[in-house]
Amino acid sequence: MDQTQTVLPANKPQVIPPYTKLPFYRKQVRIALKNCGIIDPENINEYIARDGYRALAKALTELEPDDVIEIMKDSGLRGRGGAGFATGIKWEFCRRSRLTPKYVICNADEGDPGAFMDRSILEGDPLSVIEGMTLAGYAIGSAEGYIYCRAEYPLAIDHLNTAIAQAEEYGLLGEDILGSGYSFHLYIKEGAGAFVCGEETALMASIEGRRGEPRPRPPFPAVAGLWLHPSNVNNVKSYAMSPQIVLNGADWFTGIGTPKSPGTAIFALTGKINHTGLIEVPMGISLNEIIFDIGGGVPEGKQFKAVQTGGPLGGCLPAAALDTPVDFDSLVEAGATMGSGGMIVVDEDTCMVEFARYFLTFASAESCGKCVPCRIGGQRLLEALTRITEGNGTPQDLEDIRYISRNMREASLCALGQLTPGPVMAALRFFDEEFAAHIYEKKCPAKVCKGLITYTIIAEKCEGCMVCIRNCSSDAIIGSKREPHVIDIERCSRCGICATVCKFDAVVVE
Ligand SMILES: Cc1cc2nc3c(=O)[nH]c(=O)nc-3n(C[C@H](O)[C@H](O)[C@H](O)COP(=O)(O)O)c2cc1C
Repeated sequence: MDQTQTVLPANKPQVIPPYTKLPFYRKQVRIALKNCGIIDPENINEYIARDGYRALAKALTELEPDDVIEIMKDSGLRGRGGAGFATGIKWEFCRRSRLTPKYVICNADEGDPGAFMDRSILEGDPLSVIEGMTLAGYAIGSAEGYIYCRAEYPLAIDHLNTAIAQAEEYGLLGEDILGSGYSFHLYIKEGAGAFVCGEETALMASIEGRRGEPRPRPPFPAVAGLWLHPSNVNNVKSYAMSPQIVLNGADWFTGIGTPKSPGTAIFALTGKINHTGLIEVPMGISLNEIIFDIGGGVPEGKQFKAVQTGGPLGGCLPAAALDTPVDFDSLVEAGATMGSGGMIVVDEDTCMVEFARYFLTFASAESCGKCVPCRIGGQRLLEALTRITEGNGTPQDLEDIRYISRNMREASLCALGQLTPGPVMAALRFFDEEFAAHIYEKKCPAKVCKGLITYTIIAEKCEGCMVCIRNCSSDAIIGSKREPHVIDIERCSRCGICATVCKFDAVVVE
């Protein structure tokens, strides 16, 4: 036997299990993420070696454009950008539009805070998106496509440029693809990072060089899109899944997930959870399985409190909803949304009023200002929530929040304004007792809102070590060595550093 070989104990034949056996991966099914982390995204040969471009070759040699659309329709793929509209039907609408030229557009704006699903696909497997767009172009009858990618994603843009150049060199993009006579050219448009530019009509305005503001629909992009020509807008994940659907067939895809939401969902799992990261799971899996089996539960033995799905325009669900299946319709029924794939877990230390205020701060700042309900409504909602978290809230604020939310939903021009009230309405629905505590008792049950908490030093526990005094940036702690210290609540900024640095647990927050 080779002396350099490691001898394994007989009862432990395998020291390092395959990654698919790890709890984080065991329940995952990878379609759009199939190649991410496996292939070199800058080498087209590695993409081809894993079935890359077989779908396009099949389409160009064996299928008519209508056949491709039929496969996509039969697969039941629903757009992964948030709204969940049927991709095959969208492609069909665009194919039926007579005006030419037509455009294929990839929405890679991904503005949700904490979300990085689309970025990871573009960085890790850009050719899957490019092949998906080329297939869409063939299906709808388009020779030109745009990838709208935010400029904050330089690596994604770099890998896309490399992938486009290599695909062109291999005759898989550009003129006369694979000698079929079909030509398709692809361009990248860098966005400046406005959340509203992810809305498809604002996105197209931005590509055209105009201010990124939405416009009313209809007309939908399939009829009058980019430069008023028929255009198909899909999310990165929708395009990345398409080649495998065309290659493996609609039945293969419908065999995964649920009847109304076939396939997989991709989430960026973040927040108070042990295993954060990108996951791809079959639709229909429960929130419980995602958070506890895959995510490993909440760190430091803390209690799970809520999970926010659907990003800043989605909603939070409480522990009682953990059995909810994760699919487009069940999440909406439960009071949240699927969105594009942000999933944020929070524990007992999170104030749900402040949590809702955080998302509202983002959504109201990102309002483009074109329509009044969104521009003014978002601000008024934020003011009411701020009053509540600062301890100045009144019952009238709750009435105003409900009234403004209803009007924003009904009257806003695009889904940004329509869905901005989502997080606060979900928080009100599931955590109304926390709002009541802030307003009627002037207390923040999670002990987070600065206007509603006070820090006190328990004299019996204080050793007079002066550490808190040295760390207090507001000079709010009075005392001398080996004497119990006292906090001047008038000067205290409620930063909590005294509680963090105290080795004797002498500082309490109430
Ligand atoms: C404010 C706002 C931001 C959006 N951001 C994105 C985004 O970053 N990516 C995306 O694919 N869709 C986004 N959408 C949805 C798009 O308007 C559109 O529905 C989607 O790109 C269609 O692709 P799909 O059918 O593949 O989901 C956003 C919508 C709104 C209202």
